[in-house]
Amino acid sequence: MSKSQTVDPNAIRERQQWSGQFGFIISAIGSAVGLGNIWRFPGTVYENGGGAFMIPYLVALLTAGIPILFLDYALGHRFRGGAPLAFRRLGGKLGRWVESVGWFQVMICFFIAIYYAAILAWAGSYFVFSFGERWGSDPKTFLIVEYLQTDGLTGGLLSPVAGVLGPLCLIWVAAILVMAFGVKKGVERTNAIAIPVLVIAFGILVVRALFLPGAVDGLNELFTPDFSALGDASVWVAAYAQIFFSLSIAFGIMLTYASYRKRRANLTSPGLVVAFANSSFELMAGLGVFSVLGFMAHDQGITMDQLSQQESLKGPLLAFVTFPKVVSEMPQSWLFGALFFGSLLLAGFTSLISILQVISTSLQDKFELSERKAALVMGIPVALISLAAFGTKAGLPNLDVVDHYVNEVGIVTSAVVMMVVTMWVYRKGNELSYHLSSLSTFKVGLIWRILVTVVCPVVLAYMVYATVTDLVTKGYDAYSASLLNIGGWGSVALCVVVAVLLPLAPWKRDPLNFEPYPTFKQKVN
Ligand code: ALA
Repeated sequence: MSKSQTVDPNAIRERQQWSGQFGFIISAIGSAVGLGNIWRFPGTVYENGGGAFMIPYLVALLTAGIPILFLDYALGHRFRGGAPLAFRRLGGKLGRWVESVGWFQVMICFFIAIYYAAILAWAGSYFVFSFGERWGSDPKTFLIVEYLQTDGLTGGLLSPVAGVLGPLCLIWVAAILVMAFGVKKGVERTNAIAIPVLVIAFGILVVRALFLPGAVDGLNELFTPDFSALGDASVWVAAYAQIFFSLSIAFGIMLTYASYRKRRANLTSPGLVVAFANSSFELMAGLGVFSVLGFMAHDQGITMDQLSQQESLKGPLLAFVTFPKVVSEMPQSWLFGALFFGSLLLAGFTSLISILQVISTSLQDKFELSERKAALVMGIPVALISLAAFGTKAGLPNLDVVDHYVNEVGIVTSAVVMMVVTMWVYRKGNELSYHLSSLSTFKVGLIWRILVTVVCPVVLAYMVYATVTDLVTKGYDAYSASLLNIGGWGSVALCVVVAVLLPLAPWKRDPLNFEPYPTFKQKVN
């Protein structure tokens, strides 16, 4: 650059880009396929009507999952920004407050990241433990007393647990490193390596599981439909919550990833590929996990019903107590354990980096930071909070409560607000469906607009109301009111407070100094 050339102080830093469509799709699949698929889905199906759950699941996928995925893609790509920048631009000159919607999503990612990393640390430890069956004959006592040293909230918060802190530090160092390399060299490369390995490892595990004696009983239990469950509103809430978490939608991830796509990009068809891949993986996990449980029942000479009375078939206890038990009963147990926990680690890590990318991108956008600086400015404090909250004796209860409230209240609320602001307040339905269709091979139109303008907001607003009423009147599980108020409602309240305050901080460059990507009437490859 010659000396006479000046730098436009309002010019926005050049945005990073994926290397191409493959890089975007593999990273989006890496984000979607995570802990939600491997341990949340099988347990959720089982608890909510077995085979009959597939009906609300499919309805949720088609009426909310895919339409909101497209909305995320449209907002991120058209306004070329992470969540706060995209919403700031959506708001235009008079809509400074709209930025809050983006920061609310960033805060959801913050809360998910701090506990998600902890589960990955456990998975990493259990991967190593698999080689000697360190959990012994009583995996529950091993997990709660020996490994996590769980001690409730009081006192527990101040007592670090070395066995968790070590692997948790490693997870954070790895995640910060990937972030520091940026979208193409860090995120995309990690996914391009991790996802094929994951598919092979998990594929071997599932095929092996399907041939175990008793597998059929497990599958029957999973898929035998209880149609009476369909009349229960909570089953529908569970289906929608599963889809949101699992597809990584409505909390900034897919929006952020789409902001790194090239100007001329096919948006909807990759969206369908991602949604299909995610649901296929979910189904595969259901088959694998329940085949293994069927084997466990068979091995102990009991029915699946009896097994469900004595074992936890859901969440952390399914993965870290029930699974180790089965592993111990299997031939070549170390291999089975290593494949399961290794898959959990890989699937979870590629999702963790997508969750962190939401925070990192927002800081890069707002404060004009480089990828490296953003990785450190974001990564170090978030890692320290994660270590303090989940590397201590209070880890397990904290995790369960934060997970429940942030997902079932936070993400669904975020989806409703996002649609109301975009479709009702700013009336962007036509503009965004045109943007999606003019660039993509799969066209969207009136049906998509009706779904994201009317159907989803109404159904989801009702869900939020039902969930909040339920939590206020009944609490959650058997946790103390203080834990629920601090860990649960406190997390949601903090998301709101930060979201309201952060738009007050000035942008380093004028966020409105940009042209949306129109690319209308251009050929798309
Ligand atoms: N989509 C990610 C998961 O399923 C967050 O775990």
